[in-house]
Amino acid sequence: MTSARWSWRRMPAGVSVVVVLAALLALVACERAAAPDHSAALGLPPLAVPADNPLTPAKVALGRKLFFDRRLSPNRTMSCAMCHVPEQGFTAHELATSVGIQGRSVRRNAPSVLNVAWQKRLFHDGREITLEDQIWGPLLSANEMGNPSMGYVVERVRGIEDYAGLFEAAFGGEGASAGRIGAAIASYERTLTAGDSRFDRWRYGGERSALTALEQRGFKLFSGKARCVSCHSVGERDALFTDHGFHNTGIGWARTYLTPERTRVELAPGVYAEIDRRTLATFSEPSVRDLGRYEITLDPRDRWAYKTPSLRNVALTAPYMHDGSFATLESVIEFYDRGGIDNPDKSALLAPLGLTGEERAALAAFLRTLTGSAVAALVEEARRTPSGR
Ligand code: HEC
Ligand code: HEC
Repeated sequence: MTSARWSWRRMPAGVSVVVVLAALLALVACERAAAPDHSAALGLPPLAVPADNPLTPAKVALGRKLFFDRRLSPNRTMSCAMCHVPEQGFTAHELATSVGIQGRSVRRNAPSVLNVAWQKRLFHDGREITLEDQIWGPLLSANEMGNPSMGYVVERVRGIEDYAGLFEAAFGGEGASAGRIGAAIASYERTLTAGDSRFDRWRYGGERSALTALEQRGFKLFSGKARCVSCHSVGERDALFTDHGFHNTGIGWARTYLTPERTRVELAPGVYAEIDRRTLATFSEPSVRDLGRYEITLDPRDRWAYKTPSLRNVALTAPYMHDGSFATLESVIEFYDRGGIDNPDKSALLAPLGLTGEERAALAAFLRTLTGSAVAALVEEARRTPSGR
């Protein structure tokens, strides 16, 4: 891809700055208009790359290196990839909610970063809007990567020998800065494209036999009787499986109000005891509050509303929901079949569905057809990158 530096260098001296700028703008416009050559993107809309951060191979490679580099945390243990593990759908299977630096608990489940370029808002509560800025959430969170400041991270990266020259090569001679670290990681994330699933080939690629009869039946239920499409949108030419909205399904509400009277606690390996709520409260951490979208908007109607996740690659990204409370797709489908969990702010779009066992199985089979064709290649590419000590 043509970079801005390339054009500057080759402009004959004396060409007015205005002309050069106009040419640059035209270049950037072309880059935005031209559909990127993403053979892995059947079923996804064109990729929108910000004009001020065009994708270049050097920047993507640098971003990949940073994403996997554990030296980006003070004690050199945590990288982005510790919670967004390539082999685990770029999320983490073993943990319902993440664990960060020095074993500190994080209150939410790590979403997959596959296809994250198409998310209009980031995090379960939508508090960030660009990938370039989002990185500072985990980098600076005391319970994730635990860095004290942006300057600390910049200084750390500048001091690491094997980054010497890499920022300069990717950013027209400029060294590491907070903005350029964000630009590089965001660029890598934009290449994590995973469309062209069997569903895409069936619906958008004209391959009538790409889905079995059961899976086709599942899609019919998904967009009909089970009403999943009212939030997990599917378009005529592409599908992101999200309306980019926030909904209260009752999970967050239940977590706040339905604390069980008794909890089973493991005292030693294999030794359990039933402990009542009041006793437990005397020695355990209070459960963390999570009010979802409300924490950002302070609008009471947004209490316990969470972002509709894309369902692409969902067969690879267990456990599910903002708190990782469901281990399987079957349990998610049973939850929707019951109409979610009733509470005063529950979405009006959820009601008991009356699905038969066969219909639930068809829905699950359909959800398993959404795995992108490029995932294995992305994992392989991720692990080929030397990722720092
Ligand atoms: C300790 C585990 C952990 C680490 C380390 C971590 N993340 Fe995450 N990531 C999470 C969790 C948990 C969330 C959801 C947090 C929330 O919604 O409040 C998340 C959310 C995200 C999202 C938003 C995805 C979406 O669909 O909204 C992106 C993008 C992301 N992380 C990228 C990164 C990058 C880049 C790094 C490294 C700079 C990183 N993460 C490091 C656990 C982690
Ligand atoms: C009212 C809007 C709405 C409807 C209708 C809906 N969903 Fe969801 N879905 C959501 C939201 C919001 C979440 C995230 C909830 C959370 O994080 O707590 C979600 C999460 C999921 C997840 C978990 C994904 C992940 O990565 O964690 C799956 C799977 C899912 N929905 C499938 C379905 C299916 C199948 C149907 C139809 C039976 C359906 N949804 C109907 C809004 C909806």
